[in-house]
Amino acid sequence: MSEFVPGLAGVVAAKSAIGFINGLEGILRYRGIPIEELAEKSSFEEVSYLLLFGELPKKDQLESFDAELKSLRAIPDGVIDILKALPKDGHPMVALQAATAALGAFYPQMDVTEREGNRKASLRLIASMPTVVAAFDRIRKGKPIIAPDTQLNHAANFVYMVTGEKPDEKVTRLVDVCLILHAEHGFNASTFTGRVVGSTLANPYSVIAGAIGSLSGPLHGGANERVLHMLNTIDSVDDVPGFLDHMIETKQKIMGLGHRVYKVKDPRSTVLQTMAHDLFESHGSTPLYDIAHKLEEVAAERLGDKGIYPNVDFYSGLVYEKLGIEVDLFTPVFAIARVSGWAAHWLEQLEDNRIYRPTQKYVGSLDAHYVDIGSR
Ligand code: ACO
Repeated sequence: MSEFVPGLAGVVAAKSAIGFINGLEGILRYRGIPIEELAEKSSFEEVSYLLLFGELPKKDQLESFDAELKSLRAIPDGVIDILKALPKDGHPMVALQAATAALGAFYPQMDVTEREGNRKASLRLIASMPTVVAAFDRIRKGKPIIAPDTQLNHAANFVYMVTGEKPDEKVTRLVDVCLILHAEHGFNASTFTGRVVGSTLANPYSVIAGAIGSLSGPLHGGANERVLHMLNTIDSVDDVPGFLDHMIETKQKIMGLGHRVYKVKDPRSTVLQTMAHDLFESHGSTPLYDIAHKLEEVAAERLGDKGIYPNVDFYSGLVYEKLGIEVDLFTPVFAIARVSGWAAHWLEQLEDNRIYRPTQKYVGSLDAHYVDIGSR
């Protein structure tokens, strides 16, 4: 029997050809292509195709993929009714998880052996999750829901459905790059969750709903909104060293720092920081950016020897806040990007499936007997 590894750190659980990560050198590649190249030159639609089907699309392939995604953006009225029935102060990640699972009832697909059905479900999930997130946000604010606009690309349409305003080119590109950066990351907790659910041959909507639940936690995607809450508790740049000392002394985790795989700065964080810098230069800065920058600097001095540096969540919230996205929508934005990676992993899992069923090291009693309730 193999040895117990807490958190499965370093355990190889599958072969995969989707995302490559070198945590010591800070390298991330999707299907072999460096993330920096994709962030500079590609679009979320193109990256989704790349992740799902293994290669960059030709022009006509991208056009028909994009047209199909646009045709799948609308969600059934019944899903809107479910969103309306939820408490307005419920977390949008919970609403997204519930609505995604519910899509499985509107588009039943209990048989996952058929490739065309699986492809279509993957596209439907990518296309419809932004509509769900935007609809819940509008419902909870008492505003009318905005229908998807097929004239807009994936990123611009999401911003439009949330804010009611069509974003300019710069904002559209920023959101597009954020989606690209968050689309895939190997065997992280939510992707692994999705693959585990998928390995039982469950329907695709349950697979993605499981992954959404996993992403919502503060140790994973949920960290991005907590970074902003944390930065808001620090009054000024001068207070950063004291804040950090207090966190380290009281053994509290600093949100947005540290990673299971990266022991240097996350390459996605480097791209996001540059984007944040440009955005604040052109649209006005926020004191939070200076505080974040100082926190990164002081943390490198005090925690760098442990390999603790900013991860993707550290700067993303600052960008989203500046774009006018509500703090509790940060993790749903992560989810509408990562769904492409989840779907790609689900399809890959099904190609050579074996149900995940690890074992445990039993540490309980071996010598207990039933005692009648009156004698306990
Ligand atoms: N702040 C302070 N110390 C930290 C941090 C942090 N953010 N992260 C790790 N450490 C320390 C731990 O206290 C521990 O120290 P010790 O050995 O002295 O006890 C050591 O580094 C190892 O930490 P673990 O929690 O065991 O590392 P693990 O690989 O299990 O966890 C994780 C990785 C969950 C990302 C962790 O770094 C963390 O909690 N970070 C904060 C939350 C966060 O930003 N999550 C987003 C991750 S990226 C993503 O999911 C998209």
